[in-house]
Amino acid sequence: MKNRAQYPVYLDFNATTPLDPAVVEAMQEFISPEFGNPSSTHFYGIAPRRAVDKARRQVAELLNCSPSGIVFTGCATESNNLAIKGISSALKHRGNHIVTTRIEHPAVLEVCAYLGQNGFEVSFLPVDEHGLVDVQDVEQAVSDRTILISVMHANNEVGTVQPVEEIAEIARSRGIVLHTDAAQTPGKIAVDVKALGVDLLSIAGHKLYAPKGVGALYLREGVGLEPLVHGAGQERGLRPGTENVIGIVGLGMACELAARNREQDARHMQTMRDLLHAGIEQTVREVRLNGHPEKRLPNTLSLSFRGVEAGRLLEEIGLYVAASAGAACHSGEVTISRVLAAMQVPEEWAKGTLRLSTGRTTTREDVRFAVRAIADAANALRSP
Ligand SMILES: Cc1ncc(COP(=O)(O)O)c(C=O)c1O
Repeated sequence: MKNRAQYPVYLDFNATTPLDPAVVEAMQEFISPEFGNPSSTHFYGIAPRRAVDKARRQVAELLNCSPSGIVFTGCATESNNLAIKGISSALKHRGNHIVTTRIEHPAVLEVCAYLGQNGFEVSFLPVDEHGLVDVQDVEQAVSDRTILISVMHANNEVGTVQPVEEIAEIARSRGIVLHTDAAQTPGKIAVDVKALGVDLLSIAGHKLYAPKGVGALYLREGVGLEPLVHGAGQERGLRPGTENVIGIVGLGMACELAARNREQDARHMQTMRDLLHAGIEQTVREVRLNGHPEKRLPNTLSLSFRGVEAGRLLEEIGLYVAASAGAACHSGEVTISRVLAAMQVPEEWAKGTLRLSTGRTTTREDVRFAVRAIADAANALRSP
């Protein structure tokens, strides 16, 4: 084998996704000719303003909220910062305690760590071996001084889906604001802010076939936030600055597609993911799955190859398959991801972890090709 004349098979959809052709088409008009500023009251502002309003409705429909609950941002990192710092500033008179988990993306962990160095107290909750947060741990961690709980909807590395609805009950009964980082979930599982019971929810365009440079934050009515940026008052003053009309239009269309096609897409991604898993298990010894066996995103496959170094494996397959590692090697030292460490994956397994993630465009041929490339490389690296 090893002779694919094209590009490597892309199995890193949790890192980013290609643009959907319908998203490209929707954005085209706002690349040219519609260049106007949505705040302009003259002719040239009309189409951009309408387009931003339409996109807000499209995002709101996906998340099951009112369009007035959507604030457009630059990415999930910014949405998380706005949510967490914004609540911390707005509610600091009420308390200084934040509850989060050890498996959050750095876009939450680092924000909480920063606040921890600036007068806030942060509880970083552990997870079990499947990467699942225990609701009782949340219950025990909160106190009268807790102003915010931030627990991700699903984990980007292992795909475990967290019990956000149950955590919401605790938050609601204690009057604590609940934020969830849902960067990984739209288009894969249902993301319904009412069913989840969250006050704040972050998403990113580029994880759901829209461009990079656009994201959104859902904000439940009545939740007050301090903005991070001050300016001319766009996005209700929560994210001032002239809107990224092109990106916002793309995000809107991507959300419409995610709402319309989710079940079909999720079934497809899961079929491809499970074929990949079965194929690798049949051809490589000592492979272990990370993440929850059932409560897991339909596209995510984190596999550990015992005794193999993930960096070497990625090098070997690099011409054939694009994937991510769960461990990094710097100057001979292997650093295991914080997520795998929190799940207490034994080191001889954790250091050989690949994250494979399928998408809307993954084909059976991609999977067959990837299985062979991964099996050949893992088996060769293991042979003496
Ligand atoms: C769960 C999660 N949160 C936040 C982010 C950050 O997204 P962005 O780089 O778009 O800000 C990512 C990206 O990998 C993610 O997976």
